[in-house]
Amino acid sequence: MCGIVGFTGKREAVPVLLNGLYKLEYRGYDSAGVALIQDGRIETVKTKGRIKELDEKLQSIGGFKSTCGIGHTRWATHGEPSDVNAHPHLSDNRTIALVHNGILENYLEIREMLKAEGFHIKSDTDSEVAAHLFQKYYKGDPIDTLLKLSHRLRGAYAFAIISADRPGEMFCTRRDNPLIIGIGEGENMIASDIPAILQMTRKFIVLNDGEAARVTPDGVTVYNDIGQVIEKEINTVTWDLSSAEKGGYEHFMIKEIMEEPKAVRDTVMPRIKDGLPALSECGLSDDLFRGIRGIHIVACGSALHAGLVGKVMIEKLSRIPVTATIASEFRYSDPIIGPDDLCIVISQSGETADTLAAMREAKKKGARTVGVVNVVASNAAREADGVLYTWAGPEIAVATTKAYASQLAALYLIAVKAGLASGHTTEEEAKKYCAEIARLPELIEEDLKLREQLQKLASLYYNRDHMFYIGRGVDCAAAQEASLKLKEISYIHSEAYAGGELKHGTISLIEKGTVVIALACDPALYEKTISNVKSVKARGADVILVTNGDFKPDGEVCDHVVKIPETSSFLSASLSIVPMQLFAYYVGVARGCDIDKPRNLAKSVTVE
Ligand code: AGP
Repeated sequence: MCGIVGFTGKREAVPVLLNGLYKLEYRGYDSAGVALIQDGRIETVKTKGRIKELDEKLQSIGGFKSTCGIGHTRWATHGEPSDVNAHPHLSDNRTIALVHNGILENYLEIREMLKAEGFHIKSDTDSEVAAHLFQKYYKGDPIDTLLKLSHRLRGAYAFAIISADRPGEMFCTRRDNPLIIGIGEGENMIASDIPAILQMTRKFIVLNDGEAARVTPDGVTVYNDIGQVIEKEINTVTWDLSSAEKGGYEHFMIKEIMEEPKAVRDTVMPRIKDGLPALSECGLSDDLFRGIRGIHIVACGSALHAGLVGKVMIEKLSRIPVTATIASEFRYSDPIIGPDDLCIVISQSGETADTLAAMREAKKKGARTVGVVNVVASNAAREADGVLYTWAGPEIAVATTKAYASQLAALYLIAVKAGLASGHTTEEEAKKYCAEIARLPELIEEDLKLREQLQKLASLYYNRDHMFYIGRGVDCAAAQEASLKLKEISYIHSEAYAGGELKHGTISLIEKGTVVIALACDPALYEKTISNVKSVKARGADVILVTNGDFKPDGEVCDHVVKIPETSSFLSASLSIVPMQLFAYYVGVARGCDIDKPRNLAKSVTVE
């Protein structure tokens, strides 16, 4: 989703802004722009399309010597992708340039008011009104103006602003949208995400909701929501730029799939002590699990799919009832949750608007909250009562792979911990499970050797229009994720179904040539899934069977077998998903899709 970058220092701003924007490309966008303070005036250059086009436009205009400016990648919400709708937006008197991430809910009303007062609105965006409103309120103190703006605007926002009368200075504020300030030497940056600042520094400040900052080359002053200067902690990025680069791979997605063993290892190994899960410092103590009535998992997309696997595992090992609910539904459902419940939110970015809102709803009702989060110091990580970081490192491809893998691993640890604390899993069993979890990275390495087979299967089926994924139990949960991966990357229509549910309607869609991918990785359910497979095969489907069992491709049950490493059904989702991610990847590549930045998608969905 939209990205913000700002720079002030002693060198030229344009190369720094462009570099930052390139680093934010992965978030998803459809137009981009920059604004600079030059000779006491504000210059903007904007374009629909890719950063490369903006880069070319800036080069062809040339002559930008400014050392202070802001840039933006826009992911259209209000108004089509176009030059005029692209950010930065200027105030009517052209003295203020503003970039905005988020959605302003009361922009229509403000727009009408501004029009009535004679302001000229040029774009269809919600954001532009903020630039005019800033002009309206501005009496020479940008921080005071930002605070006034915050009181007047409803919705979510991160703003970065430059003002023609303040060369070398940038101002910013946020609510429900991430914003960090990179701390350099004689130069500083504003950004919506860490990769944008790594060209300059690893040190950063996280701005909290309602706070505002003045950023100059020599310093950063942060103010609270009533304008008092406050001290902020300086964080250090623990990963380097190379983790956020392709490192010889054609796409981030395949690089990140190949990084899954490391992501899982880094997530689980520090948390297994004396053979048992050690999660107390994440807020998951034995007492907590003993005292709760139920667990509510809330998340979106793939994170929710990880939650579905977690639900099966936690219930199996602990017999504590678990729900796994789409965050955007949970938040408006008046959920039955209270002080006796635990709410687990799962989020790679830690900034997903619906997930944050669901967590706040759970907190409001008194539930204890724990975040399973990848991005350090993100909103979800800071707001949850406890946080279990998934140490997957930066994930750049929009389609999540290694973060999902590490979410599963984290949830297995939670399941064992809950099982042990509730008394439904013995210490001996818990140690056995933990030993299996510790072996996961090695098994995933093994799994990755299937790469060539999946590439071949992709070459056979990449031009089909529909694909179905089926499975039972944990395989059904993994099928949901497998199907989403294919949709996102290849734009092929696909659906995931519980094996036993197909016959209640959807089987009417199966005909000669429909591809059905069946996941059968739980020996207790092999027979049941195989009967479902037979029923689609009998109707002409081309079947790929993903299994850890001993099946042969016989043309009667299936056409191809993808044999994943053997393990107990407890961990099978981690192993069945790897070939499915590879399949989606190679199908997408064969179809010539934009793998790392699929159309219409954003990495971090910070709007409702
Ligand atoms: C997965 O490939 C998608 N990019 C998407 O479903 C994602 O998992 C979802 O938007 C949740 O994001 P989060 O983990 O950052 O909260």
